[in-house]
Amino acid sequence: MINAATKPHSALRRPTFGGVRLYSAALLTLGAALIHLAVAPDHLTAYLAFGLFFLTIGSLQIVLTVEIVAKPTRKLALALAATSLAPVAVWCVSRTVGLPIGPTPGVPEGIGLTDVICNVMEIIASVLFLHLAVRPARLSVRRVWLVALGSLPSALLSAAMTALAVSAAMSGMAEAVNAAPPTVGTTSVAKLVEARTAQEPEDRFTLTAGVTTVDGQDMWTYNGTVPGPELRVTQGHRVQVTLVNHLPESTTLHWHGVTLPNAEDGVAGVTQDAVPAGQSATYEFVAREAGTYWYHSHQQTEQQVQRGLFGALVVESTSGRVAQDRDYTVMLHGNSGQVSINGVLDTLHLNARPGETVRLRLINAVVPGMDGGPEAPVLVGAPFRVVALDGRDLHAPDLLGPTRVPLGMGQRADVVFTMPAAGSVQLIDTEEVGETSFVQKLFGGGKPPRLASVTLGEGPASTPPNATEAPLFDLTRYGSPDLDPVALATPDVTTSIVLDKHPAVRDGRPELVHTINGEASPNVPPITVAEGQIVHLHIVNNTAEYHPMHLHGHVLSVLAKNGVAIEGSPVHIDSVLVGPHETWDVAFAANNPGIWMFHCHVLLHAGMGMMTTINYVGVSTPFEMGARSGNLPE
Ligand code: C2O
Ligand code: CU
Repeated sequence: MINAATKPHSALRRPTFGGVRLYSAALLTLGAALIHLAVAPDHLTAYLAFGLFFLTIGSLQIVLTVEIVAKPTRKLALALAATSLAPVAVWCVSRTVGLPIGPTPGVPEGIGLTDVICNVMEIIASVLFLHLAVRPARLSVRRVWLVALGSLPSALLSAAMTALAVSAAMSGMAEAVNAAPPTVGTTSVAKLVEARTAQEPEDRFTLTAGVTTVDGQDMWTYNGTVPGPELRVTQGHRVQVTLVNHLPESTTLHWHGVTLPNAEDGVAGVTQDAVPAGQSATYEFVAREAGTYWYHSHQQTEQQVQRGLFGALVVESTSGRVAQDRDYTVMLHGNSGQVSINGVLDTLHLNARPGETVRLRLINAVVPGMDGGPEAPVLVGAPFRVVALDGRDLHAPDLLGPTRVPLGMGQRADVVFTMPAAGSVQLIDTEEVGETSFVQKLFGGGKPPRLASVTLGEGPASTPPNATEAPLFDLTRYGSPDLDPVALATPDVTTSIVLDKHPAVRDGRPELVHTINGEASPNVPPITVAEGQIVHLHIVNNTAEYHPMHLHGHVLSVLAKNGVAIEGSPVHIDSVLVGPHETWDVAFAANNPGIWMFHCHVLLHAGMGMMTTINYVGVSTPFEMGARSGNLPE
């Protein structure tokens, strides 16, 4: 009994029911101590004092626990309650107002699985220790097996919680990852810029990123609008864009689909450090290929794009808008529950007169759900041609009747049609979804209706009844064949890219890890190439989801889908939409040295690990990703 007045220290030496409390508290404390010790190394590198704090608390808890089990006293019970409550108190401050010291004083930290589990264990343990100190153990029951049985639940619980918390801590966000560490003789990505020639005319813009209220919602915008301003530049011009960061966080600008020098690619932690709040940076490249592109932040991409940091980029061909009287950009955005077009919910109206030729540059920036399904807009009221995909022209495009054009997140399609003699033409957005499970079918999970549409011209539209059920456009058999040197060349490298997912703990959180060749970013080994090589990628989708796999800085030639070679026009794209359980073969010429992102453009999937890089031999980066630098490209 912990009853100093009568028989000091003797009673608790024999197992009693109080022993159950004692052993339970001891087991939980030991578990918490192990968690503290497991997180100490990371804290030591981040901030010495924090690391020492965890080392001290962890060791102290182990020493005191051993002592109290050997020789239970009220004093020890109180000391243990205090060593358990101290880290809980520090945790509460750090997660609410922020600690006054540390790498980021006064800034609250995020809550993780590890710390929650550890706190729960310590709170239970300290309650038990306090209870022991106040109401010491009774002498009446002294059977060892009863105590053992009574302590079994806490033993199991403590072991399970410790294992989960430690594994979460071990899989915590990487402190620092370098996509290609510098070695002797390597060229830094920062040097991969495009020398200015005197004659180039310039197209200059400023994009100011800031917080703006749009339709009553706080959005992150470029120049106050969502989407950001459409940048129209002329092919062959030098494009110079200054990014001014008025956001509360760091950001970057990435030029999606543009083949530009690596240093201008805008990927935080790979080609630059993210631009801190209050600062600015300038991007410069020559717009060599005409076509439809877009731009967006590539720092915390999943959150920042969703908040509104994106816009259209159109490179007009020097030969002008020859075939078109009207040239409109139609950007689909929002999320799969609510799609807007060019900032308009419901119906966007565009002018067009009978007989005019219209080009619509469709860009899909809609954030899809977990299945990654594409938007599939359908044009009704006039036959049309798909003249370009991802900004690159198709050869001899055929005229199509009502056809849904699937666009994975990030993909573009240019469609051209002639306005009918009377009435309007409509573009109606529909959605494709991944394979539905039995349970989803049972609960009627199907395609949610879309409201977003575009009306061109005046008068009634001749909408056929089943437009939303129209056949899907198939890029593997459209237009007519033409020479594609990259597709014909013998590959120097062939790499398999296997896409999969499974539940696991990553970045300290349980999530549906999305893997490339069995690993999640940052552990996916990069694909190494040498300048001048022809690279084949054999992409296999082992999931029931869609993965628009996007390669920066290069053009992919489509070779085959599900093992069948494409039949029509050559297809040159920067994202290949890999549907549920499909395989695609694509080729590219390694002609643009650098460290280039290759990732699923379903940003949720990329954030869950479906991301890697294509690394050129001899190129290194001085930038790093991870918690230390704050460069978080996913
Ligand atoms: Cu649209 Cu890696 O980006
Ligand atoms: Cu994906």
